[in-house]
Amino acid sequence: MVQKSATRASPPAPAEEPPKHEVALEDLAGVGATTADKLREAGYTDLMELATASPGDVAEAAEIGAAAAQKIIAEARRLADVGSFENGTVLLERRKKLGRISASSSALDELLGGGIETMAITEFAGEFGTGKTQIAHQVAVNVQLPVGQGGLAGETVYIDTESTFRPERVVDMAKATGLEPGPALEKIHIARAYNSNHQMLLVQKAQELARTRPIRLIVVDSLTAHFRSEYMGRGELAPRQQLLNKHLHELLKFGDTYNAAILVTNQVSSRPDILFGDPTRPIGGNIVAHAATYRVYLRKSKPPKRIARLIDSPNLPEGEAVFSLTADGIRE
Ligand code: GTP
Ligand code: MG
Repeated sequence: MVQKSATRASPPAPAEEPPKHEVALEDLAGVGATTADKLREAGYTDLMELATASPGDVAEAAEIGAAAAQKIIAEARRLADVGSFENGTVLLERRKKLGRISASSSALDELLGGGIETMAITEFAGEFGTGKTQIAHQVAVNVQLPVGQGGLAGETVYIDTESTFRPERVVDMAKATGLEPGPALEKIHIARAYNSNHQMLLVQKAQELARTRPIRLIVVDSLTAHFRSEYMGRGELAPRQQLLNKHLHELLKFGDTYNAAILVTNQVSSRPDILFGDPTRPIGGNIVAHAATYRVYLRKSKPPKRIARLIDSPNLPEGEAVFSLTADGIRE
């Protein structure tokens, strides 16, 4: 699959050390060093990825035949624990452990059933200036608060794709929340993603960081901008959606593993010329719709007010919340 260069001038991604693996792909029968490398390059970094992959994708990634791919997948399934079902009680117990992070607006928190939920993807979609980035900053500050006071006593990995992270805003918001600005900034681990590949790689990096730091939130602001600018042509819609799907899947896996919340932003443009399909829908279409547990659509109201609308939630009623963008951050 050929990837088009981004429309804006981007510096090359920095050299990355190879990611660590718990079970080496080389341990699978039929996988040599070259095949393992090719698989990892294509993003199959662990057994579960391989066990749940399609033979066609694996064959293409490793440049092997379909039968060989099928064999590798079967072997990965045997070794990975894929077949296990969880009963309702186990699932309920698991859900009791869910954490929630306040967005500093009780209306917005209520709309989301008590705040931004862990082990889930919450998408904030909206036009420019609707407050997506402000909410991302606010939640990255609030996650640091103690449990019971709107936070999870945790830290944030903040994947910034458009260079709109502003430490000054964190300082203002931290002060207004009663946190020391210095330590508050240290608990937000910011990475600028240069392109969509790099953006995906940063989720792996987040996993490494999470082994030593209590990461309870990943922000991706914006989830879709790089994908949109790199895969412009109509014929590239399918590869773009596949990669976006993989990215969301990896984010969700991080959320499940570390009981962390995943907050992503998605711009909706009123310019029909730069989008495929319905211009009023967030980009990424069905792929993001299926992966995101909570989708919040933001729109402008009388300044500084914004209106948030919850769409397609599995367990919450549709509704709206009004909040304000202020110098102190998100407020009622
Ligand atoms: P795009 O990334 O362009 O799609 O927009 P966005 O949805 O991320 O918008 P963002 O969160 O950047 O919101 C910008 C708005 O936040 C501004 O129009 C202001 O209303 C508000 N805002 C940003 N910084 C400040 C600030 O320091 N003080 C105040 N009072 N408001 C601010
Ligand atoms: Mg923004």
